[in-house]
Amino acid sequence: MDARYDLAGRTAIVTGGAGGLGRGIARALRDAGAAVELWDADPDGLAEAVAELGVAWRRVDITEPGLVEAAAAAAFAEHGRIDILVNNAGILGEVKPIWETDPRNFEAVLRVNLFGTYLVSRAVIGRMRELRSRAGIGGHPLRGHVVNIASIQGKEGMARAGAYSASKAGVIALTKSMAKETARDGIVVTAVTPAAAETAMAKQITAERRADILSRIPMGRFVEIEEVARMVLWLASGECSFSTGGIFDLSGGRATY
Ligand SMILES: NC(=O)c1ccc[n+]([C@@H]2O[C@H](COP(=O)([O-])OP(=O)(O)OC[C@H]3O[C@@H](n4cnc5c(N)ncnc54)[C@H](O)[C@@H]3O)[C@@H](O)[C@H]2O)c1
Repeated sequence: MDARYDLAGRTAIVTGGAGGLGRGIARALRDAGAAVELWDADPDGLAEAVAELGVAWRRVDITEPGLVEAAAAAAFAEHGRIDILVNNAGILGEVKPIWETDPRNFEAVLRVNLFGTYLVSRAVIGRMRELRSRAGIGGHPLRGHVVNIASIQGKEGMARAGAYSASKAGVIALTKSMAKETARDGIVVTAVTPAAAETAMAKQITAERRADILSRIPMGRFVEIEEVARMVLWLASGECSFSTGGIFDLSGGRATY
């Protein structure tokens, strides 16, 4: 590792923290000294992740406005502040051409990936704005960082993943909108657009589709969970102070913009 981060004294929430990328991101934040809370809807996954990482947790379905609001209120009350929010929870949904899909699937994917990201951001950013700021680079005030996990599919679209791709395009636009709204508040909002990683999500696809996805990545491999986590570390640290609204590539050369 070339870079080391000191996030001692910072508190972070990672949604979907029981899953593959979320767990890796939580581990990296914890190892950098942050106090981490995992938010997830899956109790078994949470229990396993907490046993592995030894961090705090909260069972939250991010699609339920009342639950999200209560969880944010409790997290701020317990820790006094939240400095870092990683909106990572997400689902893939059906892998079918649009004419074969179930409209309920489209709604469910949008509801978790986009509406859930909106709900958690709404609850956390609203409270983050009230925090006392600290001095960032050049003495400019910093209050916190929000990092959204989008996907390369949100930029390019992907056959048989219309709902997923549309939801991630929505996350990209939401990132930019929230960044403009908080630009004067010392809150930096960014997103990453990974190509495929070896997590539970990648195991939901057929070998043929997996080979197709791999063939689109010029580096010829999937992204390592640690590579995502280390980019998120930078984006969640005071080192990232002027890139608000930025969408950061993690696609092994697949992205053309
Ligand atoms: N794995 C990939 O190839 C890949 C590539 C690009 C982007 N992503 C994105 O990375 C993020 C993490 O995905 P992953 O690969 O780790 O998948 P994963 O399935 O391992 O983890 C996702 C986690 O989100 C949780 N979750 C789902 N719905 C929820 C809800 N309503 N409320 C709270 N938690 C909920 C799940 O319980 C799970 O623990 C997702 O947003 C995904 O779209 C993944």
